[in-house]
Amino acid sequence: MLGRLNHVAIAVPDLEAATKSYRNTLGATVSAPKDMPEHGVTVVFVELENTKIELLQPLGENSPIQGFVDKNVSGGMHHICYEVDDLAAARDQLTADGARVLGSGEPKIGAHGKPVLFLHPKDFSGTLIELEQT
Ligand code: CO
Repeated sequence: MLGRLNHVAIAVPDLEAATKSYRNTLGATVSAPKDMPEHGVTVVFVELENTKIELLQPLGENSPIQGFVDKNVSGGMHHICYEVDDLAAARDQLTADGARVLGSGEPKIGAHGKPVLFLHPKDFSGTLIELEQT
């Protein structure tokens, strides 16, 4: 089911400061910030040779990552995104195996304009998993 690692996401309290650390201190290429109100986050992508790092900052009153940032005041690893060929087939197989898909179970359009789903961290070693159809 799993394809390539698409990105690792880090939730941060201050996206501008995090962008500066990656761009200036680590010398990485970082994209311009993008507001995603339907996901309650503002994102930038750090482009690496073999993958991407997604830096997320809460956006709006009901951001789903606000609680995480409140608990992890310096920021922290939030989720891992794996690529799949067929998101609907992956979801059906996962739910048949007893894994929990977050939200309605219907894919949303993610930060790259492609359909995504999230899987419950308690079912996968304490890690929130995002699946992206590529
Ligand atoms: Co992501």
